[in-house]
Amino acid sequence: MCETAQSAKKRALSFIQPSGLITIGNYLGALKNWVEMQSEFDCIYAVADLHAITVYQEPQKLRSQIYSTYALLLAIGIDPEKHTVFIQSHVPYHTQLAWLLSCNTQFGEMSRMTQFKDKSAKHPENVNVGLFSYPVLMAADILLYNSDLVPVGADQKQHLEIARDIAGRFNNRYGELLTVPEPYIPETGASIKSLQDPSKKMSKSDDNPNSWVAVLDPRDVIIKKFKRAVTDSDSCVRLSDDKPGISNLIGIYSAVTGKSAGEVEKEFEGVGYGDFKAAVGEVVADMLAPVQKSYAEIIKDKAALEALYRQGAEKASRIAAKTCYKAMKKVGFVL
Ligand code: TRP
Repeated sequence: MCETAQSAKKRALSFIQPSGLITIGNYLGALKNWVEMQSEFDCIYAVADLHAITVYQEPQKLRSQIYSTYALLLAIGIDPEKHTVFIQSHVPYHTQLAWLLSCNTQFGEMSRMTQFKDKSAKHPENVNVGLFSYPVLMAADILLYNSDLVPVGADQKQHLEIARDIAGRFNNRYGELLTVPEPYIPETGASIKSLQDPSKKMSKSDDNPNSWVAVLDPRDVIIKKFKRAVTDSDSCVRLSDDKPGISNLIGIYSAVTGKSAGEVEKEFEGVGYGDFKAAVGEVVADMLAPVQKSYAEIIKDKAALEALYRQGAEKASRIAAKTCYKAMKKVGFVL
């Protein structure tokens, strides 16, 4: 591989938690963009298993979700040969740097994190220290790789801000080392809402399975879920603030087909909601069919999968080790 061509590219980094099924919200909102970013950037992608256990995960289930999330990244078209694709816990420098950063992060600033407040309210029985220091681990993820760009959704913006603050503070205190990352807002990147309550984001942790569509849902299930999607009493396929259900479906249809909302409205002029909902289900199922086929192949071959994630961890470790040791030296450790 040509080193100079590689290093001339900006580096983009993002991780995904293996804490449940991956939905079309994750796919259309984030992962599809991860695929596209590969042509422009040097990409580092990982399955964030360390972050996942800040909420209790049943061990057997977690293991299978780590496998399936990694396999799904490959199935959607992430290239582990050209880029770096690994499992977070396979690279011990993440927790190592996180400790150094923890000692340079204030209790007060962590206490203000809205996700911590939300998650502790949701899981009052398990407000663990990991949940509290989660943003520091995320900062380590980002800063280990000198990432220039981090594509994150609205819910992770505050965490990226903190990563920038921590990097700046570390550099000020110990001398220039860490790259201060920029948020990356992709041109496309739909915000997909729940099919049952369009005032909420589509979330795999929603108890009602009709509210989300998983990337691996079978075709008939996908179509059934879209047919059940809530709409309003009107019957006109038009984008409008007071028609959140239909607007969400138009958003999904346009994210899948690349057509503008206006074009979608025109295409479905005079068509009833029932037929429109079925049509959205069809295009989503068509989009996912090749991903599902590829996933089925990949997940069958555990040995090949293992070879890839091991290779990914080695590539990642080479970069992470350098930053981690430099940081250790800066704080005064004996190497
Ligand atoms: N916290 C992120 C999420 O829940 C996942 C994540 C972990 C991440 N480390 C990261 C995202 C580093 C971007 C960069 O979605």
